[in-house]
Amino acid sequence: MKSSLFLCLVVSLLFAFNAAQAQNLPHSCAKPDEVSVSHLHLDLNVDFDSKKLTGSAKVTLDRKAADKSLWLDIKGLAIEKVTDESGKELAFTLGREQADLGQAMEIELAAGIDTVTIHYASSPKAEAVQWLSPEQTTDKQHPFLFTQSQAILARTWVPCQDTPGVRMTYSAKIQVPPHLMAVMSASNPQEKNDTGVYEFEMKQPIPSYLLALAVGDLKFKSLGPRSGVYAEPSVLKKAVWELYDTPRMITAAEKLYGPYRWDRYDVIFLPSSFPFGGMENPRLTFATPTILAGDRSLVALIAHELAHSWSGNLVTNSTWNDFWLNEGFTVYFEQRIMESLYGRKYSEMLARLTLDGLKEELNELEQRDTWLKLDLVGRNPDDGMTAIAYDKGYFFLRMLEERTGREKWDAFLKSWFEKHAFQSMTTEGFLDYVSANLEGADSIPVKAWVYGPGLPESCPDVVTEELANVEKAASEFLGELKASDLAAKFATKDWTTHHWNHFLRSLGEKVSTNKMQELDAEFKFTQSGNSEITHDWLMLAIGSDYEPAMDRLEEFLTQQGRRKFLAPLYTRLSKTAKGLRRGKAIYTKARPGYHSVSTGTIDKILGWKQ
Ligand code: BES
Ligand code: ZN
Repeated sequence: MKSSLFLCLVVSLLFAFNAAQAQNLPHSCAKPDEVSVSHLHLDLNVDFDSKKLTGSAKVTLDRKAADKSLWLDIKGLAIEKVTDESGKELAFTLGREQADLGQAMEIELAAGIDTVTIHYASSPKAEAVQWLSPEQTTDKQHPFLFTQSQAILARTWVPCQDTPGVRMTYSAKIQVPPHLMAVMSASNPQEKNDTGVYEFEMKQPIPSYLLALAVGDLKFKSLGPRSGVYAEPSVLKKAVWELYDTPRMITAAEKLYGPYRWDRYDVIFLPSSFPFGGMENPRLTFATPTILAGDRSLVALIAHELAHSWSGNLVTNSTWNDFWLNEGFTVYFEQRIMESLYGRKYSEMLARLTLDGLKEELNELEQRDTWLKLDLVGRNPDDGMTAIAYDKGYFFLRMLEERTGREKWDAFLKSWFEKHAFQSMTTEGFLDYVSANLEGADSIPVKAWVYGPGLPESCPDVVTEELANVEKAASEFLGELKASDLAAKFATKDWTTHHWNHFLRSLGEKVSTNKMQELDAEFKFTQSGNSEITHDWLMLAIGSDYEPAMDRLEEFLTQQGRRKFLAPLYTRLSKTAKGLRRGKAIYTKARPGYHSVSTGTIDKILGWKQ
């Protein structure tokens, strides 16, 4: 009797715990099982003087349980009031401020309330938003603004249920100063208007991290029937040339994994402080101008962001612990697009560089952070943005492809996207789908990849003759061969950006000043206009203490803010006392021009105190 009572108690406690757990999302206070947001209407004024977005967010609710409140995430927002449809004010409470997460906002809902309007202003320090002065743009004529919401920064400019597990449609009315144009991750204008008021609509339901806005002196040019480019006037021509293959990429992607579901696919080139290579904002990829190499050699980034239109935007990771479902699938899909446009030889070269990078990064990561299924509870989801989600994810899927055979695998993947379109999925959901639908899945060592560290033995190898030849060139150069003889012996004039990347990386961290001078005299690396080559060259220059490249280093670190380039360079600088001094001196000048995503990382690298 006694023991059964005890059992009863334990069981009911467990139940209560589970019910609470079910609501407990890793990085959001939202309780979508009770009340979720199904549509958002933004009405915002963009004020460059005060660096504030001011106005309102009206949310339409799906109330799954009566008597329950609406829980929203906010960070740094000044809330003026909350009203219902009739304009009556509603009571709300704000939770304690938490680092990274911000505050919970609980809005009480009486019976019959299906929409709520939050009147608010964002803070000038909102982490998602970068406000650029005219001097910080390419053309230096007008101010510019852009947002970066992924992973949990949407809450710094829009009150929302900031979890990738909730989807909503949205519309917006944005008022901007004269001479500027606004674009969003939605239906977009192609020309400026005189009123400065722009209206937007996103009819497909999206998670909050895909909310995006850019405002600036923008021009548009078409690339094909359903794609085009936005950029500042002086960048547009170069951008259009570089993205020539975009329409073919869309066609190739559709042929692989089904129709493009977002109507148009456009790309906007942002000023160079954009902290990422690209961001897959639906209908409008945000891109860094550092891929404008002048030879179309860095367009894999466009293939990547386009691929997210399926992996990520259509089928979304449920939580940031499942981030590999977004990025690993996207790297896989990107590779397939590249292969289909440029051939297997070329795409294998890219795959090999990816594998090298992954192995390198594995040495630096904590064991637990090398599982595909991450555990980011209590941490910033940014910590999950490593080569694991991207490249271990890629090789896991490539292993599945190789074991299954391409034909069956492609049919499987296509059905994955079709069956789960506009849904958010967990890693476990994917593994169940594999067990149920992928022939021969039982014999595949899935668990070791997803719930285990490092690179399992079943990881495919990538052998490419192209790069073997480059390695030979590097090793002969480190021996007796003169830089001036490299061209004749290894046909370096046919080398692509990727050959050069591999060559420079194969030289290690340090070479003699003589060798550096030879290389520089022969190939003019210090003057290179290619960001990827410049980055690798400067890494070598820091390691080799090669003074003639140090002005270029300062210039590169000040003129662009892409974290992927900044972080390794500052890290290498911080390895010696002299380097650290130089790094800090450069950072003092460069920091005001960086986006918060980049300063967040570099502050830590340099031990920077504000
Ligand atoms: N979605 C990511 C960028 C991102 C991830 C932003 C996590 C914030 C949090 C985007 O698709 C991406 O992966 N960009 C890469 C380029 C790509 C070719 C690997 C980048 O910016 O380097
Ligand atoms: Zn991505």
